[in-house]
Amino acid sequence: MNGSSQTFFRSVPSSPPQGDAFASFSAMQAMQLVQEPLAAPRLATSATSPPSSLSRPISIPGTKSQPRALVPFDISEIRILLLENVSQGAVQMLREQGYHVDFHTGAWSEDELVEHIGEYHAIGIRSKTKLTKRVFDAAHHLLVVGCFCIGTNQVDLAAASRAGIAVFNSPFANSRSVAELVIGELVCLSRQLADRAGEMRAGTWNKVSKGCHELRGRVLGIVGYGHIGSQLSVLAEAMGMRVIYHDVLPLMPLGSAVQAESLEALLGAADFVSLHVPELPETRGMISTRELAAMKPGAYLINNARGSVVDIPALIEALKSKHLAGCAIDVFPREPAKNGENTFNDELNEWASELQKQSNVIMTPHIGGSTEEAQSMIGIEVGNAICRYINFGGSIGSVNFPEVNLRPITEQETRAVRVCYVHQNQPGALRAVNEILGSYNVDKQHTDSIKDLAYLLADISGLSENDISDVYHRLSQTPACILTRLLS
Ligand SMILES: NC(=O)c1ccc[n+]([C@@H]2O[C@H](COP(=O)([O-])OP(=O)(O)OC[C@H]3O[C@@H](n4cnc5c(N)ncnc54)[C@H](O)[C@@H]3O)[C@@H](O)[C@H]2O)c1
Repeated sequence: MNGSSQTFFRSVPSSPPQGDAFASFSAMQAMQLVQEPLAAPRLATSATSPPSSLSRPISIPGTKSQPRALVPFDISEIRILLLENVSQGAVQMLREQGYHVDFHTGAWSEDELVEHIGEYHAIGIRSKTKLTKRVFDAAHHLLVVGCFCIGTNQVDLAAASRAGIAVFNSPFANSRSVAELVIGELVCLSRQLADRAGEMRAGTWNKVSKGCHELRGRVLGIVGYGHIGSQLSVLAEAMGMRVIYHDVLPLMPLGSAVQAESLEALLGAADFVSLHVPELPETRGMISTRELAAMKPGAYLINNARGSVVDIPALIEALKSKHLAGCAIDVFPREPAKNGENTFNDELNEWASELQKQSNVIMTPHIGGSTEEAQSMIGIEVGNAICRYINFGGSIGSVNFPEVNLRPITEQETRAVRVCYVHQNQPGALRAVNEILGSYNVDKQHTDSIKDLAYLLADISGLSENDISDVYHRLSQTPACILTRLLS
């Protein structure tokens, strides 16, 4: 094959206004597939592989042999916009891949994005940059969005899907940080540390041991035994605690932990109850008056999950009556939009001052996952996801795409081409694809769908340049096509 074949076609009405039918880029000019390649003067016309300094292969989990990097074109053409000061680890990783990276510390407004997004193939954001339908309509070359954070509320996922743009985030990179915070809270609650420290700040010496305990031998009840809950389980056992947990799934215990028969059984047995469930209709208000009454007298409640999980007025009553000996709360039903004095007040949550008054209460501003280590892990995870999607087409971990992956094409498979075909999930779509690919040797193929969106990866081998051009054109013209890319 002459030159590269990172080529894509997007059949959205928002194509750039050049009067062309295709919004596409390519370094494989010999194929004459595209109308206006990005950064045209820098296009390599004869390169068959990127310079070795730029072609650091990324690791593909589960494979032993080295994958062939499917980017045999001048990969400096891939332009990535990174906003909101994402981790330098990610910036470095993307630059080492040979991508052109523009890095900015702040968020961009919708107007700024609309003006510039058309220049980029990938964008990395955190929570402040809003990617709206208007932005996606202007994103003629965009392939992938990396949210360097936990949530994706700031992205119009439906608009991204309609444009065939994959969105990735990093929901679990901060699990360890949260689990460690809970360990700190366990110690602080059982030693009434917040109250003693507050008294000392006010000049009061109050040396007491009544109601203060070691953690050793005490029972920790973990509600939700997922990424965070299971990490916490291991750490708590190392402190000498006995761990029981409740989960809607029957999950393998770690260490000597034991799955409780029910939430009620856990509440009645635990000295500390720590919540680690997701926000779902079933978990809204799951800890209210009845559940608090079911807890052991003198027990503690810890919530680092989501603000909606605990009925806080009911918790305040349980603290006032001394049925509970204290609580640590990191997440609230309503949280201030930005840092500042007097932002957490009764106007935001009508019970705020009442909760502030109770003894042995630790309140923190949603910092469970906020560590430099977590930020760095997020950078690596999302950076890797962006590279994998651009270079190999794999969508594992995407929040809006079906998760599709193929084992890598190896160094030996020199004449293989990978087809990445994002399409509408409609009757006849796969038949049309198979009619096109059926004439060739399809080595492997994986397809899946979520709602209206479907994604197919196929590796085909032994094609001539004309065949590649033919496959590309015919796939691009199928009625269901949203985006076609060829990698080789
Ligand atoms: N405080 C913070 O800064 C912070 C940081 C990260 C995550 N979180 C929150 O922590 C929570 C847990 O995160 P995770 O990464 O461990 O999630 P996860 O998805 O890995 O685990 C959640 C577990 O809860 C279980 N579950 C779901 N519904 C349940 C129910 N009704 N009863 C019992 N168990 C139930 C699931 O089966 C799963 O095992 C989430 O709400 C997340 O938003 C908070």
